[in-house]
Amino acid sequence: MTALDVGSAADVGAHATKRRTFAIISHPDAGKTTLTEKFLLYAGAVAEAGAVKARAGRRRATSDWMALEQQRGISITSTVLQFSYRDHVVNLLDTPGHRDFSEDTYRVLAAVDAAVMVLDVAKGIEAQTRKLFEVCRARRLPILTFLNKYDRPGREPLELVDELEDQIDLRATPVTWPVGIPGDFRGVIDRRSGTFVRYDRTARGATAAPEEAVEPTRAAVEEADAWVRAMEECALLDEVGASLDTKSFFAAETSPLFVGSALTNFGVRHLLDAVVDLAPAPAPRVDAHGSARGLDEPFSGFVFKVQANMDPAHRDRVAFVRVCSGHFERGMTVTHEPSGRPFATKYATSVFGSERDTIDEAWPGDVVGLVNAADLRVGDTLFTDAPVAYPPIPRFAPELFAVARPRDSSRSKQFRRGVEQLEQEGVVQVLRDEDAGDPAPVLAGVGQMQFEVFTHRLEHEFGAAVELTSTPYRAARRTDRATAERLRTTSGIRVLTRTDGALLALFESLNWLARIEADHPDWALERLVGE
Ligand code: G4P
Repeated sequence: MTALDVGSAADVGAHATKRRTFAIISHPDAGKTTLTEKFLLYAGAVAEAGAVKARAGRRRATSDWMALEQQRGISITSTVLQFSYRDHVVNLLDTPGHRDFSEDTYRVLAAVDAAVMVLDVAKGIEAQTRKLFEVCRARRLPILTFLNKYDRPGREPLELVDELEDQIDLRATPVTWPVGIPGDFRGVIDRRSGTFVRYDRTARGATAAPEEAVEPTRAAVEEADAWVRAMEECALLDEVGASLDTKSFFAAETSPLFVGSALTNFGVRHLLDAVVDLAPAPAPRVDAHGSARGLDEPFSGFVFKVQANMDPAHRDRVAFVRVCSGHFERGMTVTHEPSGRPFATKYATSVFGSERDTIDEAWPGDVVGLVNAADLRVGDTLFTDAPVAYPPIPRFAPELFAVARPRDSSRSKQFRRGVEQLEQEGVVQVLRDEDAGDPAPVLAGVGQMQFEVFTHRLEHEFGAAVELTSTPYRAARRTDRATAERLRTTSGIRVLTRTDGALLALFESLNWLARIEADHPDWALERLVGE
């Protein structure tokens, strides 16, 4: 590429149109990792499935983080996968789950344009899926639904369609519909074309599943009762108008639904095609003043995650930036919006697990890892030319609360500095009692891992060992000064101030909270998810 055509408006638009940036949300064990691998397999990015897990196993302990990861057998290192599929560039952002569930998991959803929700056909909607879904809903993120594990016994698909509507108010619009019951999966009908795609198993789905398009008349004979039943169910879906509708899909009111089995590769291609054909390309992002910066305007992006100390030799810090407009080129100098200072992007990387490659350019929808980004915080905007500031990434409703104190009071200065730093990075939320001048703040988070990272880093980076004491609090609501006055005199409740100035009321039990909400409908008690 020559200097002349770099970053021209036409270029940017064309590159953005070809991008799809999404995340997979699911409850642990629903099949997120398996599906991710199968996407890579179908995109030709790996020759044989098994690469993602094998790679994870090969990872050496190259940092404190990795030691922590290996010790606990989990993955903290966020993965951004980029692969090409059908002339498009697909960015798949990992949403850490299991025990490493944290606010980062939610923040990833601020950086994507769509989500794939994976449900286990035997289980339906589970706790973690629901939480992640709520964040998607608050952000109006379009969601594709994948009913996974149809190769083994499970629940009726129509029952699951009802469950989506009843429990999370999401109307499923099945694009593919199964022939055969869970455990006896014959293939799917593509409701758009009426074609039947029959599958054959491959050994543990190591290679793409052979697919055979079968004429409906032949399918009716060969699949007999299973076919009749599937046709009846499709007729029912037609009757209730459960058909693909782009407008309501983009508004996160309906969700195109696909049925399959990630393990045996059934239905994976349909789903990946849908990511390209149905999910939205990057759109102009609205700034903090409510106006949108066009995709073809000069470079801008925002930090959605900061990962510190991936390499202890350098104590470095990687900021993950989602590109919103323009053409990013490694080496360009951008402006850090909050400080107004220039920031050099010489060390731009793509991040796949623990492995980094230099990235030379990026377009709207892509994610760039900026190394040595000590001053970059979650939510910060970077830009060139005309200034822009994107809205802050919301803090999320904490569910876990613990009091933090320095073990050694002579280290309280280091403790304070560490708490301030880690709060700014968004590792935990820090709540204080305004009146007490509080040397022992309350840490708040959505996952236990946030606390472990906090104590580990405070001790190893700031030299202040931490004593964490659990608290009886179970839920938080945002409140105002008037309500806070009343809450302070009510038992089982504590009102604290978050570093951003928000007043949070903490409740010892969900029942108590429900009772107070019922008794005092006029009190300000705002739910926090997605704020
Ligand atoms: P996660 O990332 O969402 O936590 O789930 P993961 O993909 O690791 O899948 C969890 C388990 O479910 C794995 O089994 C995986 O093989 C299995 N699985 C995923 N998709 C399907 C499917 O479509 N059908 C069936 N029958 N099983 C599926 P495991 O025994 O825990 O691990 P492994 O020994 O198979 O690796």
